[in-house]
Amino acid sequence: DASDIEKGTYSHFMLKEIDEQPIVMRKIINEYQNENNELKLDGDIRQAMKAADRIYIIAAGTSYHAGLVGKEFIEKLAKIPVEVHVASEFSYNMPLLSEKPLFIFISQSGETADSRAVLVKIKEMGYPALTITNVPGSTLSREADYTLHLHAGPEIAVASTKAYTAQIAVLAILAVDTANAKGIELDFDPMQELAIVANAMEVLTAQKETIEQLTRDYLATTRNAFFIGRSADYNVSLEGALKLKEISYIQAEGFAGGELKHGTIALIEEGTPVIALATQENVNYSIRGNVQEVVARGANAMVISMKGLEQDEDAFVLPHVHELLTPLVSVVPLQLLAYYAALHRDCDVDKPRNLAKSVTVE
Ligand code: G6P
Repeated sequence: DASDIEKGTYSHFMLKEIDEQPIVMRKIINEYQNENNELKLDGDIRQAMKAADRIYIIAAGTSYHAGLVGKEFIEKLAKIPVEVHVASEFSYNMPLLSEKPLFIFISQSGETADSRAVLVKIKEMGYPALTITNVPGSTLSREADYTLHLHAGPEIAVASTKAYTAQIAVLAILAVDTANAKGIELDFDPMQELAIVANAMEVLTAQKETIEQLTRDYLATTRNAFFIGRSADYNVSLEGALKLKEISYIQAEGFAGGELKHGTIALIEEGTPVIALATQENVNYSIRGNVQEVVARGANAMVISMKGLEQDEDAFVLPHVHELLTPLVSVVPLQLLAYYAALHRDCDVDKPRNLAKSVTVE
């Protein structure tokens, strides 16, 4: 059928979409800069960002996880406070809002009912909204004041991969554009750094055999797994756990490295897989400490570190990218781990049980 043709030589859309990520990064670089290599964003969006005293990011699932990464960019680069909320919670339990809020809806499909419910409410309240989506004509795009397009191409696999990295890239560009508009001097060229990310993603997607072997070594028979990380790595550990849960049905949780010991470490047994990310210099020492803690209790720890921060015992070393953008590369081996874990368990990779690509009911 038609979907077989679109898959080309790939057995699954998910693997094809993982592999497309470097292309999507380059597409975003092209779409968001002009001939003079300057950022090219809608001036109205720039004004709306500049005018906001606080930004509320609203999303669900993987898009929520991209929002967590985006918060870091907007706060660190554009110096605007950001709250990230799960749409279904925000809808019925709104926090106190600031005086001049801007709402950013992140949604691959642009059709998620939980997010739309929030959009309807905040429009009634008279607040401005920007939708970041892969589908510009979608409901969330049409009903918001502004839209930023992800340019990721159709994402067919239920488990989101290239939309997540596209969302993060667009959020980085948006944060830098806002910083520029506010006259904040930055030592960060987003297009140059994203080009380095695209190359790093290519290196990673060429390492499938290594990741498949790691999947055999760590996830072959396990019923559960933990992902840990600190700061940016914590955000990615949440997404790594979600990917694994969604398609392999292995019970997985992402934790802040320092939080595991406050309860969940009780679950660590002989052989429990713990996947630790170590891409952040300022917490490299402390995440290593957390790895020691779980190893001492029998965990089978897989450390994924970044070049420059690696240690001999690390299972996998990521190419070096700018510290702000590490989520774009550290997520790739986690996507592949989930893919191979699902494949080895004969799970329906592209259409996992109980899940829908876009959830149009609240
Ligand atoms: C569904 C999908 C997830 C996705 C979430 C949000 O639950 O299965 O993969 O992250 O919806 O979708 P959206 O289209 O709003 O990003």
